Amino acid sequence: MSDRQPVIPAGDTGTLSPGSIYLGDALELLPRVPAGSVDLIVTDPPFAIEFKAQRMNYNRTGSNVIEGYREIPGEDYAGFTRAWMEEAFRALSPHGSLYVFSGWNRLIDVLQGLEEAGFCTVNHIIWKYQFGVFTRKKYVTSHYHILFAVKDPKNYTFHKAEHYPEDVWTINREYWKGRKKTPTKLPLELVRKILRFSSSSGDLILDPFMGSGTVPVVAHEMGRRFMGFEVVEGYFRFAQGRLPEGDFPTPE
Ligand SMILES: C[S@@+](CC[C@H](N)C(=O)[O-])C[C@H]1O[C@@H](n2cnc3c(N)ncnc32)[C@H](O)[C@@H]1O
Repeated sequence: MSDRQPVIPAGDTGTLSPGSIYLGDALELLPRVPAGSVDLIVTDPPFAIEFKAQRMNYNRTGSNVIEGYREIPGEDYAGFTRAWMEEAFRALSPHGSLYVFSGWNRLIDVLQGLEEAGFCTVNHIIWKYQFGVFTRKKYVTSHYHILFAVKDPKNYTFHKAEHYPEDVWTINREYWKGRKKTPTKLPLELVRKILRFSSSSGDLILDPFMGSGTVPVVAHEMGRRFMGFEVVEGYFRFAQGRLPEGDFPTPE
């Protein structure tokens, strides 16, 4: 396994550099990202629900699901959300954008956090997926919320890549049959769509809660620079294994 991408040594407080992913707590690492240096943040933070990483995953055995998922207690979620969003706002460039994923249970905290941190919400996107968890006495949840927010509503990147880009996206989760996976991996196609609309070649893309590393993987594939954080070592190593060794796009 490659060790090219850094694991933060204890006590290190230096500035973080693009083209790397880091093992550590986003609340400690975000303040070390230079102010105004990031063009786009795409992130799917922990959602503060009773979540079992070893559950039956997509109707299949849980034995391929890597354990250790870090959750935030419900009572801490509003404060946690506000804290990371304020740092995200500081790290973003004046024309920067943020896409944040949320389930419906904690959407109120996410919307409030965005407003308190100073963001302007441009779109509320619904992502419709398959494989909602089976229920007996309620409807099966098969959608996610994605809030598209910017620092400056008069100046942000938006490449109109489709003629009529609607705010309801039907994109299937990926089957990773028989392969190791983290429990909440985003589809590559979904992240590609976000980067196509809201970033340009060479932009710096950050995911402070990167899980399996889908956002850095797509950023690299599309010729963007990336930075990512993950607090669970097993997930960090998994993400590391998905990224090529070296030759990452570097700042001009
Ligand atoms: C919903 S998952 C992200 C999944 C990711 N989008 C993917 O495609 O795999 C949220 C991730 O945040 C991590 N996490 C939780 N608290 C964290 C913290 N304080 N700092 C960094 N990562 C954290 C969890 O371990 C989990 O992997």
